[in-house]
Amino acid sequence: MTDLSQPGAIPGAQAETGVPPPLWLLAELTYRCPLHCAFCYNPLDYTDHHRELSTAQWLNVLRDARALGAVQLGFSGGEPLLRDDLEVLVEQAHKLGFYTNLITSGVGLTEQRLGNLKDAGLDHIQLSFQDSTQQLNDFLSSTRTFELKQRVAVALKKHGFPMVMNCVLHRYNLPHVDKIIEMALALGAEYLELANTQYYGWARENQPQLMPTREQLVEAEAVVARYRAEHGERCKIFFVVPDYFENRPKRCMNGWGAVFLGVAPDGAALPCHAARGLPGLTLPNVNDTPLREIWYESDAFNRFRGLQWMKEPCRSCEEKERDLGGCRCQAFLLTGDAANADPVCDKSPFHEQVVKVVQRAADASTSAAAATAREQPIVFRNDANSRRFAAASGAANVRGDHGGQP
Ligand code: FES
Repeated sequence: MTDLSQPGAIPGAQAETGVPPPLWLLAELTYRCPLHCAFCYNPLDYTDHHRELSTAQWLNVLRDARALGAVQLGFSGGEPLLRDDLEVLVEQAHKLGFYTNLITSGVGLTEQRLGNLKDAGLDHIQLSFQDSTQQLNDFLSSTRTFELKQRVAVALKKHGFPMVMNCVLHRYNLPHVDKIIEMALALGAEYLELANTQYYGWARENQPQLMPTREQLVEAEAVVARYRAEHGERCKIFFVVPDYFENRPKRCMNGWGAVFLGVAPDGAALPCHAARGLPGLTLPNVNDTPLREIWYESDAFNRFRGLQWMKEPCRSCEEKERDLGGCRCQAFLLTGDAANADPVCDKSPFHEQVVKVVQRAADASTSAAAATAREQPIVFRNDANSRRFAAASGAANVRGDHGGQP
């Protein structure tokens, strides 16, 4: 009998399909979150998808994903600590042989839970900060959590967890990159992920306010290089460059349906974090379709897999195997068609859209219109705003309006 707890235990799937198995499972346990971050990647209408898989259903997902071949497992959300069964899921994941990572704001991570999670076999914790200052950290998350996060960082080191500190970068905190790195070093982070904002979900709504200038990025990169040279042994610093400032797109998710398998709180299977925002893409659900079928056979996971789906200019481009046409979600958001080339690419006929966004950020000190857009109130991720977006997208669906925002 096949042992389904072992990776790659489904015989012959890769040979039959030519598609490699997923390596990384992201279990988005809940959309509930005590924070209200201005750059959250969760869907704007998350309140429309509030149903959550039960413990038994998540245990099945873990077992099936491991049997498919997944080895890395992230527990995320929302805030995964809001699930009382997190320890049960971690324990099962550990037994199955996953390398487990908890992606958390730290809210709810008490000494008691840290101990329980350690006992359950959790390998790694990724703790988010919004800034090195209390004022900005608390403003951007619309909470008072800065001091709590500091305490959590100390506690998780005490319990022997390796720590990735994560900080999303944008116009407001790029000038503090040196202080953010100092904070990570002082708190004993082994890894620091400085991830420039990717403009999906709530970040897209707040793009005029969050978009930095090129000068800010160049300065921050120089600071990072300096700290890497001095402290690279102690703390590995990643600096994820925002692709709006590039001429070639990134190979998003390392390719659609290539390594990443996400499962949303309600069981929807996601080829990328932001796939829920792509119109016309019916996401299969783990409640009614086996994970193997979802990965290998579903339209959602095959739609942009490989190279066959490409249109010009990607189809005849000699670089297509390197970037795989870039990000489908960005292509949709900026051109209205997810099958277009990512407009970050300067071969895209829509590249001007990206140039304009970058230019508007640069113009904010000289143009009244750009300055006004930048000073608009931030739309925080909260239930009231989500319900507003859900109502608006419901009305647009009734009208048959699925356009992007070219
Ligand atoms: Fe969806 Fe890039 S975020 S493909």
